[in-house]
Amino acid sequence: MTARIIDGKRIAAELRARVADEAGRARRDHGLTPGLAVVLVGDDPASQVYVRSKHRLTQEAGMASFEHVLPADVAQDELLALIARLNRDPLVHGILVQLPLPKSLNTEAVINAIDPAKDVDGLHPNNAGRLANGFAALSPCTPLGCIILTKSVHASLQGMNAIVIGRSNLVGRPLLQLLLNENATVTIAHSRSRELATLCARADLVYAAVGKAEMVRSDWIKPGATVIDVGINRLVDADGKARLVGDVDFAEVSQVAGAITPVPGGVGPMTVACLLVNTLRAASAIAGLPKPAV
Ligand code: GUN
Repeated sequence: MTARIIDGKRIAAELRARVADEAGRARRDHGLTPGLAVVLVGDDPASQVYVRSKHRLTQEAGMASFEHVLPADVAQDELLALIARLNRDPLVHGILVQLPLPKSLNTEAVINAIDPAKDVDGLHPNNAGRLANGFAALSPCTPLGCIILTKSVHASLQGMNAIVIGRSNLVGRPLLQLLLNENATVTIAHSRSRELATLCARADLVYAAVGKAEMVRSDWIKPGATVIDVGINRLVDADGKARLVGDVDFAEVSQVAGAITPVPGGVGPMTVACLLVNTLRAASAIAGLPKPAV
């Protein structure tokens, strides 16, 4: 058996097109142009690539994009002052501070300084707490994308056994909460979990978000399971050629799974698409408009 490949690139493009439609409607009917501010501190090459793609796709969706690049040695107070300005700026409806921040900065204090209404990353304790309590909240983009990809395979996740491998604030923990809201039965595993293979083997839905190249093997996977690979790892082959791989051994697992996301072209494109969704939702809520249809 060979798994169905979940085409994240196509699903993300469709989602962005729906966001662009709704953003156009907001502009025509209400004079509202949703605006996203992205803050990049330092010159990490991977972060620069992400930020550039966010900038381009935000503009393509008909929204305003504001980029703020600060040096790696910026003072904490200066970064907090920028966030305070963005909190007050009526053209800005979403604020994203690209992570990870340089070690000299206090990430928690920076996240806490963002106005929760503009927190399109869903990382502020106000939003994380609301999500954990099952209330409406801005939710982190990558987990939102994982749920949309899963629903492209299964109309309902109710009663399914899901395992999330990884417990980060950006992915694992919010994904656990979103799956609970979908009435899945959720196990969350991590680096200290025992018998990971056994835990995985009973899962209908497997989410790998640990950052370890090709860690999930085919003998962990229940035949027919849906596998969502959140990992992006750079591997250098024996001949010196670099390639991107996920946390799942794709060649092996795609022989056993029912459906699987590729890397690249799976979860990755969904993250930015969901960021645009969150920016549209935040702008509508701030302007007192009804929840957009996307
Ligand atoms: N770095 C990698 N992914 C993300 C993300 O979704 N949000 C932020 N802020 N930083 C990231």
